[in-house]
Parts: sequence; C-alpha cells; structure tokens
Amino acid sequence: MTRDLNLYFDNAATSWPKPEAVYKAAEIQMRQACGNPGRSGHTRTLEADRLIYRTREAAARLFNISDPARVVFTYNATDALNIALKGFLKAGDHVLYTAMDHNSVLRPLGRLRRDELITSTMIPCSDQGYPDLDYLEHSYRPETSLLVINHASNVTGAIAPLSDMIASAHKRGIKVLVDAAQTAGVVPIDTQKEEIDFLAFTGHKGLLGPTGTGGLYVSSGLDLNPLREGGTGSQSEMDLHPASMPERLEAGTLNSSGLAGLLEGITFILNTGVEEIQKSESHLRQYLYTKLQSINALTLYGPGDSGQAAAVVSFTLENADSGEIGYILESSYGILCRTGLHCAPLAHQAIGTFPEGTVRLSPGFFTAEKDIDYLVNALNEIVRLVSG
Ligand SMILES: Cc1ncc(COP(=O)(O)O)c(C=O)c1O
Repeated sequence: MTRDLNLYFDNAATSWPKPEAVYKAAEIQMRQACGNPGRSGHTRTLEADRLIYRTREAAARLFNISDPARVVFTYNATDALNIALKGFLKAGDHVLYTAMDHNSVLRPLGRLRRDELITSTMIPCSDQGYPDLDYLEHSYRPETSLLVINHASNVTGAIAPLSDMIASAHKRGIKVLVDAAQTAGVVPIDTQKEEIDFLAFTGHKGLLGPTGTGGLYVSSGLDLNPLREGGTGSQSEMDLHPASMPERLEAGTLNSSGLAGLLEGITFILNTGVEEIQKSESHLRQYLYTKLQSINALTLYGPGDSGQAAAVVSFTLENADSGEIGYILESSYGILCRTGLHCAPLAHQAIGTFPEGTVRLSPGFFTAEKDIDYLVNALNEIVRLVSG
C-alpha cells in the first residue's frame, strides 16, 4: 500500500471535513458582517447580533430548549464545563462524577478539591465504559449538590444511561450537568424530556462548526456565578456584570465568525436529522468494529454493540506502543488518528490501558466504508510487520 491519501479518523478530537457552508459562512461573517455583536447600533453590529441570535435559536431547536436566551456561547466544551462547575458549586458541596470523565471535568474538580472547597466521589465504570449505577445509588451524601454525567466516552464511545442517572439524582433534589462533547449533533438530546439542568457542548466536533465555539445550556430558574465578568454592551453603567441571560455568562466579544460557521453546522444537522446521523455513524462504527475484530492480534475496547455507542473505537496491539502505531499509520498510510490517554486517564484505568493508552479511531458522518477498508488493510500490514 502506498501513501496517496489523507484519511481522517480523528473526529472525536475535532470533526473534519465540515459542510461547505460552514467554511463559507465563517469567511463571509469576517469579511462582510464584521460588527461587534451587542455593541453600538450600526448596521454591521446589528447584523452580527442577529446572526448570533439565529445560532442561539438553532442550538435551542436542536436540544429542545424553549428559551434561546438560556443558551450561552463559550469557546469549547472545556470552557462550558468550567463555567458550570465553578459557577454552581459552593464551599462544602459534594460532587459525583464518573470514571469516563474528561480532564475538562476532572481538572476543575481537582482544583476545587485542592482549594478545599468541595469533596467528590468517582463512580466506577465497567471495562466497556458504562457507569456502575448501584455504586451511584450508594454514593449520595446530604451535601451532594451535583452529578456530572459524561454522555459518551471519548475513549470507548459508551453512551451513559442518561434518563436513569438523571432520575436517580433528581429524586434526591440533586442537579445534573451533562457533558455532551461527544454526543451533541450525533445523538439526539432533548433537554426538556430528560430534564437536564446544565448541558455543556462543543461546536467543533459533532456540531460540525469551527474550533473556538461551544455552549452551555442553563435551565430556567438556575443561576450560575459568572466565571468571567466584563463588557456586554448592555447596562454599562453598572459596576457588576448583568444578571440577565445570556449576558450573565458571556463577557467580552464573542467569536462571531466561528458562530456563523456553527449556525451552518447546526443547520446541516437539523436538515439531515440527528437520528439519521446517529444511524449512519452507528453503522460505520459497527462496520469498523467488526473488521477490526477479524485482526486477532488487536484487543478492542468499548461496546461491541454500536447501538449504544458514539463512533469511537479504541484498540491496543500486544507489545506495540500505541504512539508508534499512530506514527506508522500516518507516515506510511496517510491515516490520521489519536493515540495515548485522550485526556481521560481514569477511563483508561477503568478499561485497563493506563498509562500506555490506546489507538483511537473515530469515523465521522463523512467517512466512507472504503476508507475503513483501507484502514483495516493498513492495520493488517502493520500487525504483520510488528509481529513478524
Ligand atoms: C468527553 C469530552 N468532554 C470534554 C471535551 C473537551 O472538549 P473541547 O475540546 O471542546 O473543550 C472533550 C474533548 O475531547 C471530550 O471528549
């Protein structure tokens, strides 16, 4: 096999390609509608303002949020998770989270613990990545205020049983923060039906938007202390940040060109249908998983049934370093993937791949079966090389 392609299997890190309209909208916004949204009243400012409102409306439609003002734009999922965790938790609170959580949850919690503000309990997960619901039931304390749910693992793809976990927390009056970094745009999310309190999402993965975009939904009746305070273009006479949403959690100039692209990404998803996208990605994951199973030397991680998983498959090859496999895949075959710990060290402990990590393959909506065939042939050759 020769390197004549550049095949992208790293959609769990950031999706590529994007729909053509995403690239165009970001460029047009920078060239033509370049006013600062919410600041002053000239034509370009108003145009930028309207565009951002339309993006808010599109996100609200996608996640079934009745009031678009409850969607705040952030720079990525990490930013949204920090805003939610640091804005909600108070001194003395206890937090529940799972072994599948990403460092964008683990590290803010670690900081709050180090500062002796909170305590926390990790809910263990199975070697496929599913949280132990019995353990959860026994982990609540009188001071527990928040359950953080990793909607889908970026290491195994396992989709958490959202409704059961939310019901478990809510029957004790505990709020829920859902990290939808790996599911927004590829798994249906209904904030009203699920009664989600906080939903953190990123714009540059399943929503097919540019990097530097993301968001946080805060359900009505809940208030977060702002992480950042500053200019909003509104109530400028006040010495404190405004209380009204979405300004409450959005300080400073927004990433309008990114959000213009994000609007097109979400529009593509709404027009295609999240169910359709999920069906297609689930088919691709199963196709990939089954083909990888035929390579005996590989150990696969994550659910064998792709109906309960986001499009992520991790594997290891005995006596081979995952970074080295990633290097050979790119240098000899033009295949791009992610290796190592994927910013989720506890997930790797749960599946037994810490500290070496795995090779992670994440197809996307635009991946073709023939790309997977090429990848699997490349892996067969690499296995022969390494074991030979
Ligand atoms: C489960 C999970 N949460 C959070 C994040 C952070 O997302 P972002 O890069 O948009 O901050 C990621 C990114 O890989 C993720 O997989």
